[in-house]
Amino acid sequence: MTSTPTAKAVPLPAPHSSGCPFGPPPAYTEAAATAPMTRAELPDGQSAWLATGHAEVRTVLSDRRFSADVRHPTFPLLVSGRREELVTSKPSFLRLDDPEHARLRRMVTGDFLVKRVAALRPDIQRIVDETLDRMTEGRTEADLVADFALPVPSLVICLLLGVPYQDRDHFQELSRTLLSQEATVEQFKAAQHGVLEYLRALAARRREQPEDDILSRLAVRDDLTVDDAANTGVLLLIAGHETTANMISLSTALLLEHPEQIAKLADPATLPGAVEELLRLLTIVHTGLPRVALEDVELGGVTVRAGEGVIAMLSTANRDEEVFGGAGRRPTDELDLERDARRHMAFGFGVHQCLGQPLARAELQIALETLFRRLPALRLAIAEGEREFRTESFVYGMRSLPVTW
Ligand code: HEM
Repeated sequence: MTSTPTAKAVPLPAPHSSGCPFGPPPAYTEAAATAPMTRAELPDGQSAWLATGHAEVRTVLSDRRFSADVRHPTFPLLVSGRREELVTSKPSFLRLDDPEHARLRRMVTGDFLVKRVAALRPDIQRIVDETLDRMTEGRTEADLVADFALPVPSLVICLLLGVPYQDRDHFQELSRTLLSQEATVEQFKAAQHGVLEYLRALAARRREQPEDDILSRLAVRDDLTVDDAANTGVLLLIAGHETTANMISLSTALLLEHPEQIAKLADPATLPGAVEELLRLLTIVHTGLPRVALEDVELGGVTVRAGEGVIAMLSTANRDEEVFGGAGRRPTDELDLERDARRHMAFGFGVHQCLGQPLARAELQIALETLFRRLPALRLAIAEGEREFRTESFVYGMRSLPVTW
């Protein structure tokens, strides 16, 4: 066993390939082809491990010897210059370990249970239909990102949290800045402050006059401060908005390249599996998930030393031929809507596995099925080479997607 690097460290985040815009940066797939654990260099110059194998990624995300606590002094940061404010501000439960993580997560799990989300389906369908009505009214061309993919999850999460509809543009802007890797430290701080202040004020109002929404349920709890309630609100808003929006736009762009597979969305028996395959292949968290080792761990033929950072690369794990390939299936870097993709880790794995996954699945199923049913002639309004992808964001996506129908 050794912790000595065997190949050149991969600089993170690595550039995307213009040839295959839907896949992870080629440097990650090349690293995965070399070994399941390789070396990476973080933007601040710190070195870390890159876990690319399916089994290794599962271990990093589920073994308690790896911490998600961003306040750890050597926690691997995927953007430079942010350690100070990340360490001093109270993290949301996404970046805390148990028992604090579990205590805060438990307070909102009820709102995202499969049966609770099933009851929301008519509301989601209404939001999708109304958004499509607005997008198509009197028009034959639209930007699918601005006019459909962003508003749908934004309206759904605002409904759940109780954020008034008229504030959504403000939120969209702030959450984009928070998630952008190109935002300056000042812009990031201002956006973080703006969202928190807004939700703090809303939580304080809801504590006095609760309504039937998540923020009200959090705000009236005696064991939670208004700050904790606002922090959880920020996490839900950010985690649930851009992710789902990017999945809708990327899935649409990819499906338009594979028109022969679109019919799978129309069949209720194949729609859920088709969405799992889109989640697997697109794995929009292209930057990977950061963790820090709390003790020495033998993994994938190397020793990860206590204090070393590890980036769990979901996108390469989700292309593992042994897990997702097989007789009669297309290669795992291709779309195959009939593949059994259920073991994908696009939602992460372990205690931090995405809380909102039942909601994200319902939104994706309803949005994609409705879009292609109502607009069967949907096509790109530009050449494929002109599509603009969001490479600077933590979650991969599209800047715009001009379409016609
Ligand atoms: C397709 C859409 C989505 C994708 C691909 C996605 C992906 C992920 C991933 C990979 C994680 C794990 C992060 C880590 O372990 O470090 C995560 C966590 C989380 N997601 Fe999602 N997510 C999506 C939609 C949503 C939605 C709609 C919500 C809620 C409204 C949500 C709320 C959360 C929360 C609260 C966590 C933190 C869970 C914890 O730390 O215990 N996500 N998500």
